[in-house]
Amino acid sequence: MIALNHDLLVAGRDARRLAGRMPALLGRCSIQSTEVLLDLGIGLNPRDTAFAPLDLSELFGNDHPVVLEIGSGKGRFLISGATEQPENNFIGVEKSLHYYRVIRDRVAKRGLPNVRVINHDAFPVVQKMLPDASIREVHIYFPDPWPRPKEQKRRIIRPQVLVEIQRVLAAGGTGIYVTDHREYFENAAPLIAEFFRSEQRVPAPDEPPRTNYEAKYRADGREIYEVRFWK
Ligand SMILES: C[S@@+](CC[C@H](N)C(=O)[O-])C[C@H]1O[C@@H](n2cnc3c(N)ncnc32)[C@H](O)[C@@H]1O
Repeated sequence: MIALNHDLLVAGRDARRLAGRMPALLGRCSIQSTEVLLDLGIGLNPRDTAFAPLDLSELFGNDHPVVLEIGSGKGRFLISGATEQPENNFIGVEKSLHYYRVIRDRVAKRGLPNVRVINHDAFPVVQKMLPDASIREVHIYFPDPWPRPKEQKRRIIRPQVLVEIQRVLAAGGTGIYVTDHREYFENAAPLIAEFFRSEQRVPAPDEPPRTNYEAKYRADGREIYEVRFWK
């Protein structure tokens, strides 16, 4: 059994490495066939599975703790986290198909075995696909602020989503929400505090930026606001 699992893991890793070379190898293939091959083992399409609940041990081939990122952009946090912490698994949920493909290709190129990416709005993914108490950390960096009053119901920090984050976080699990948008922060911080023990924090100037937006906004001299929370 152990040998079989090892063989499966090696096969998965080899498949991901091969997937990283696919854009070159498949220069003349149709977009659809390239897409299917590149998705091997890294990308998940919830539409294919009707949002069926995930078995995270099966998904990663191990029982390591799982870190969830909502709105991963180009995947800087996911890739550095997964590279530096091979003992943790990472799931990124990214709504934009373009960014999803960017992340998937970067993960494939590096042959990272501990990252999966889901291309969808995060709310139904968290609500329907993630089991209770299955996530060790939740990271949300620079979510879209939806500044107009009519649009604010789309913000990722809203009660409906926080209920689900609370459900999926394991006991002792932690979360980080970071934004440059003062009004979003002023609304989100007390909302988070209704669900979790939480603490507001301003990242120190010498702390390395975790994401591309953080790097850009820090370079521009913008204020950055952070809330850390615990279940
Ligand atoms: C402003 S960008 C920040 C990207 C990255 N976190 C960073 O800090 O560089 C927000 C990202 O969240 C994604 N996004 C927005 N709403 C989302 C949602 N409901 N579910 C998943 N991803 C979402 C966007 O497509 C975009 O890539």
